[in-house]
Amino acid sequence: MILVTGGAGYIGSHTCLALIEAGYNVLIVDNLVNSSMNSIAEIEGITGKPVIFLKGDVRDEAFLRTIFTRFEITGVIHFAGLKSVGESSLNPLSYYDNNVNGTLALLKVMNSSGCKNLVFSSSATVYGCPSKLPIKENHPLSATNPYGQSKLFIEKMLNDLHESDKYWNIVVLRYFNPAGADESGLIGEAPNSAPNNLFPLVSKVAAGQLESLKVFGGDYHTHDGTGVRDYIHVTDLANGHVRALNILSDPARILTINLGTGTGYSVLEIIKEFEKASSHQIPYTIIDRRSGDVATSYADASYAKELMGWSAKLTLAKMCEDQWRWQSNILNGVTPST
Ligand code: NAD
Ligand code: WQD
Repeated sequence: MILVTGGAGYIGSHTCLALIEAGYNVLIVDNLVNSSMNSIAEIEGITGKPVIFLKGDVRDEAFLRTIFTRFEITGVIHFAGLKSVGESSLNPLSYYDNNVNGTLALLKVMNSSGCKNLVFSSSATVYGCPSKLPIKENHPLSATNPYGQSKLFIEKMLNDLHESDKYWNIVVLRYFNPAGADESGLIGEAPNSAPNNLFPLVSKVAAGQLESLKVFGGDYHTHDGTGVRDYIHVTDLANGHVRALNILSDPARILTINLGTGTGYSVLEIIKEFEKASSHQIPYTIIDRRSGDVATSYADASYAKELMGWSAKLTLAKMCEDQWRWQSNILNGVTPST
């Protein structure tokens, strides 16, 4: 049985689908701070298989201990955490508490229960302002906000842990910019508060829920002046986790792997592609740069291919189509909005 912390959330729910489709039994632990039971019901509906869900907080060691006692957990995929860059600067303690203390509690319980197989959700944010493109895993690391710093602390903790005990088998996945939704249009990104990321905002403008998009900066050194990112379909990302579980092996090791497509698109290119997918106009205004943003970020994704035989398969057009199907299902009441 695979324990998926944060499995009710955006990337976690898509990964649970992929795991179940690959034949794994999953147990989801989530405190629903940024998700709801809807995704659990949809995972069960899509796969036709029941999912074990336990509501709880990963910072609660006693709760985690009961899980490791009750169930035979052979591996953990750890998504649970807070992820808003802006919010992390306003409330750093809550980010360090959730992300660092949550991971620490989980690691302690895994350690004492003898389950030492872990896949961890890190982020391309740990590359700070990239000095070399495409970004390889050995690019220098830095953080410009508490969220990024929390990921760096956790990565360090995991490396120290493996150094101290070679039975720990760990894959750290650094995601670039997850986008889109499951092809069914029944699960997608459904945060409990207003989104800050480009894809959900573009899709809300296309749906008429927001009047227009603010484009942060039109004077970057990029081909059209707007920021360039490596958007990766959430289903490709989910499949990357199944591959990562499959390479957790004997002898134990710690691996750090980028999950991206290797291709960057600008904000204006995303708008254009989304207009095509949705057949709706996306009004936008170019305003000042957002503080902390970098001009360009895209992955060197060759290590994932070499180690796990994984590469992203789904195009930007598919990300937009699937995001739009999900957004339309919300609009039409096929699926609830949170
Ligand atoms: P999400 O908010 O949709 O999912 C996180 C889930 O964890 C939510 O369901 C939330 O309720 C749960 N959670 C949060 N704190 C918890 C706690 N203390 N105990 C139990 N559950 C808790 O976010 P996501 O986009 O699916 O991100 C998943 C992971 O991937 C996070 O660790 C995030 O930092 C990382 N990540 C996300 C992105 C991105 O752009 N979405 C990029 C890189 C890395
Ligand atoms: C993408 C591009 C913006 C909103 C963040 C985190 C990163 C990771 C992924 C968790 C940029 C532009 C955006 C808008 C815009 N998350 N933009 N108008 O900033 O690359 O990465 O999410 O780990 O850590 O920092 O993603 O989607 O916010 O922005 O013009 O209203 O869209 O400037 O160029 P970002 P994003």
